[in-house]
Amino acid sequence: MDKIIPAHVGIIMDGNGRWAARRGLVRTQGHLEGLKASKRIVKAASDLGIKYLTLYAFSTENWKRTSEEVSFIMGLVKKYLKSEFEFSKKNKIRTRYAGDMAGLPPGIQKELKTSMAETAGFTGMQVILAINYGGRDEIVRAVNKFILASSADKQVLNEKDICAHLDNPDIPDPDLIIRTAGEYRTSNFLLWQGAYSEIYISDKMWPEWEKEDFEAAITAFQKRDRRYGGIKT
Ligand code: FPP
Repeated sequence: MDKIIPAHVGIIMDGNGRWAARRGLVRTQGHLEGLKASKRIVKAASDLGIKYLTLYAFSTENWKRTSEEVSFIMGLVKKYLKSEFEFSKKNKIRTRYAGDMAGLPPGIQKELKTSMAETAGFTGMQVILAINYGGRDEIVRAVNKFILASSADKQVLNEKDICAHLDNPDIPDPDLIIRTAGEYRTSNFLLWQGAYSEIYISDKMWPEWEKEDFEAAITAFQKRDRRYGGIKT
């Protein structure tokens, strides 16, 4: 029997700063290497036939960092969006977005919109860039979208109402969430959608991640027994 490839994988790309500090480098150098790792893993995931890959590039809490570090990460995102078009075209990779785009610098918003428009027809893997993303923020925005869209007589929400107003309602919940750099927490990533995601934690720092590390995570996922709160039949 063929091994099951998860449809949707989310990654909390952690450890850029520690990777740099251990080498006596500045934190931004870690982010630069982190971007290179992101490119390697996008390719690896696409080659494996993953349909959706969500990359947690900047959280709603990351604004607490120094303005230099924030600007550097935003610059990297811009660079990624600009430089990846040929690769995306060749591999039919579509760019999507999750988060509160209105809170991003106008230049990034423009690049994101351009990349999403240019790749909208691509039928390969979809890469969802989570930038200025917070799981709690997404749920609050979903509820507010519901309130604005609903008629005055509907005052009680159900799960479907929330799902329908999340950032990307058409994308299935992540089957697997990977976190690098050995921390055991969700850090506000896909809180709603991750209710039954399998979690894989790697001690390796994100800049060290290679294709083989991603493949090992998928192999570990394939050995999991998913019961969704039920019992094994
Ligand atoms: C976490 O490491 C990493 C980030 C907050 C930034 C991630 C951004 C990139 C990899 C570049 C942009 C990527 C794409 C795909 C556009 P950390 O700084 O929290 O590391 P630490 O916990 O060791 O300090």
